[in-house]
Amino acid sequence: MRSLLWQPVLFLASLGMAEKLLYRNTFNNSDAIAGWVAEGPLNASITNNTLELSGAGAIADYFVYWVPEVFPDRIRITWEFSAVEEPGLAMFFFGAASVAGGSIFDEGLKPRNGSYAQYHSSDIRTLHASYFRRRWPEERVFHLANLRKSPGFHLVAQGADPLPSVEDAEGVFFKVEVIKDKRDVSFTVNDLLLYSWEDVNTNTGPVIRGGRIGFRQMTPLVAQYRNLEVWSL
Ligand SMILES: *[C@@H]1O[C@H](CO)[C@@H](O)[C@H](O)[C@H]1NC(C)=O
Ligand SMILES: *[C@@H]1O[C@H](CO)[C@@H](O)[C@H](O)[C@H]1NC(C)=O
Ligand SMILES: *[C@@H]1O[C@H](CO)[C@@H](O)[C@H](O)[C@H]1NC(C)=O
Ligand SMILES: *[C@@H]1O[C@H](CO)[C@@H](O)[C@H](O)[C@H]1NC(C)=O
Repeated sequence: MRSLLWQPVLFLASLGMAEKLLYRNTFNNSDAIAGWVAEGPLNASITNNTLELSGAGAIADYFVYWVPEVFPDRIRITWEFSAVEEPGLAMFFFGAASVAGGSIFDEGLKPRNGSYAQYHSSDIRTLHASYFRRRWPEERVFHLANLRKSPGFHLVAQGADPLPSVEDAEGVFFKVEVIKDKRDVSFTVNDLLLYSWEDVNTNTGPVIRGGRIGFRQMTPLVAQYRNLEVWSL
């Protein structure tokens, strides 16, 4: 199954259409997150080429941290993830734009502070991949990674989440890869495919195209991120 995924890559490479690096953040100094936009109370610190994020508010206050760059459709995003303290939940937003097709930061959009409904059922459209879902007891008894499409809170894909608990991970970083190629989305951890999805179901709204990417966490998760890259396909 996985070897099939390589065929388009090899095909494009043979045509000379190699992937192009659009963005790389190695978190190698505190300027690395200058311009990132926090919604909700968060604590971001950089040490040792690692971004560490945690909630800085009450237990029920969550946050989103947006990368300032706007990306086109047809991208591959990779980063390394390590949970430091659990429970909690991690989520990745991609293709985020206003429902009207503009920026998520356009004037006139409703205020956002990390509270989930503002992202899934309001005036922005985005895909969101949740992983390390350990916030609630029902998430902890059966580890799933979810893909949702908004507006509308549509659950469009799910897969088993192989990420271990903090105790068992012993500080190891896992490589996460998200591919967003027009209607096609896939989510991979350490080269293991958790799910892939094709947006052909018209009752979830228009296909998500380009837009911003961002990281969300539910407290009390403390998590670390390294080597964030975005490649155009
Ligand atoms: C930090 O990382 C950026 C992007 O990868 C690179 O261009 C820059 O040279 C690095 N700076 C240092 C001090 O290593
Ligand atoms: C810094 O990161 C490297 C891996 O890039 C790791 O080997 C090292 O132990 C880390 N140092 C500290 C102090 O966390
Ligand atoms: C934020 O992180 C810094 C550095 O790790 C730490 O000293 C501080 O206590 C943290 N603040 C909160 C509110 O978590
Ligand atoms: C975030 O906004 C919601 C309303 O959408 C509000 O109920 C909540 O208290 C706010 N949280 C913070 C931390 O301001």
